[in-house]
Amino acid sequence: MLTHQAPYRFSQRSSYLERSVMRDLLKHAVDPNIISLAGGLPASECLPLAQLKDCMNTVLERDGTAALQYAPPYVPLRQWIADYMNRRGVACDVSNIFITNGNQQALTILSRLFLDMGDYAVIEDAVFTGVQQGTKGIGAKVLSIPTHLQTGADVDELEDLLQQYDVRMVVLIPDFHNPLGVSMSESKRRYVVELAERYAVPVVEDDAYSPLRFSGETLKPIRAYDESGYVFYIGSFSKMLAPGLRLGWMVIPDELMAKVTVIRESIDLETSTLTQRTVHEFLSRGLLDAHLQQLNAEHQIRANALMNALDTHLADIAAWTQPEGGLFAWAELPEELNTWEMLPEAIANGVVYIPGGAFATHGGKLNCLRLNFSNVKPEKFDEGLRRLRQVIQKHL
Ligand SMILES: Cc1ncc(COP(=O)(O)O)c(C=O)c1O
Repeated sequence: MLTHQAPYRFSQRSSYLERSVMRDLLKHAVDPNIISLAGGLPASECLPLAQLKDCMNTVLERDGTAALQYAPPYVPLRQWIADYMNRRGVACDVSNIFITNGNQQALTILSRLFLDMGDYAVIEDAVFTGVQQGTKGIGAKVLSIPTHLQTGADVDELEDLLQQYDVRMVVLIPDFHNPLGVSMSESKRRYVVELAERYAVPVVEDDAYSPLRFSGETLKPIRAYDESGYVFYIGSFSKMLAPGLRLGWMVIPDELMAKVTVIRESIDLETSTLTQRTVHEFLSRGLLDAHLQQLNAEHQIRANALMNALDTHLADIAAWTQPEGGLFAWAELPEELNTWEMLPEAIANGVVYIPGGAFATHGGKLNCLRLNFSNVKPEKFDEGLRRLRQVIQKHL
């Protein structure tokens, strides 16, 4: 192993970044003795392995070394995405589609575009750590708003903050929020658009999950209601196809394309040529709908199994969200319980979850936990929740 004791002088910016507990907990996902409710992955059994393999072979045979070279973003893929976004109510052209390595990269690019160190950003009280890394992590001053467990982010609180502070960027997760699982109501989506325009503030709509709906009503993206250009939609193939592809997109106005391209170039030159062409081949063969149907049907079975297990083992002490899609449910235990403290005991007892505190923008959420249902075999939930109850019982 290569080690050095050199007195490195780190950048101030690097000191804002905190290690994410998610990475540490992911290792339990592969321990066969532990039932992991901690992951954030779509069902492995449903990933379209054979189809992607065939698509990649076709691309390599058809395009030869062109598929292996540096190349500008693949226009047929951008066109497919533009058509897809139009079908979802977002008016845009191929020229508005910017290919990324996924939503985390899109967040990084937009943060660099709109946030200087010390600027105010608004995110939610409980939110995916990547959103915190993309705002707090680059030295922004982060303000936060609560999220209602049925209707999504509190837009009145958002307006209060926009009135009081010179906010330079807002990040929201309107569909199947990570970690809360909730989707934002249509009226709130419309209100966010009004606020973005009134306060001239960029709102990043982080949509990693909307295609993963298995029940309830499909809602249009916030961007579908926006005519001001202040809403920035970022979409990803990670959950709808496969996280390992590292492929996503942004919908941005023509005027910003050059600026965004330069920022992207400072991070890396382009998204993998081979991946873009392979995914385009998959999409143009019309395979996405059948894949999503199969994936969502399996996720629904698993979500139901989690709900049943929660009913059986925690109904007397906990409340939880009822997912209509996405990957997660959010559970709240009695106030006095601390899910961080319980975690080592839970792991020793063969079950792991993510403590709510891991997502808390400004602390708290200590009695909460995020439960993943998508990548757990349905027959495991009952035993997993039984093990969890045993641990909770000792703390009641
Ligand atoms: C809300 C949210 N945004 C972004 C990401 C990162 O997505 P990607 O794989 O597209 O970078 C995730 C991943 O879990 C997420 O939950």
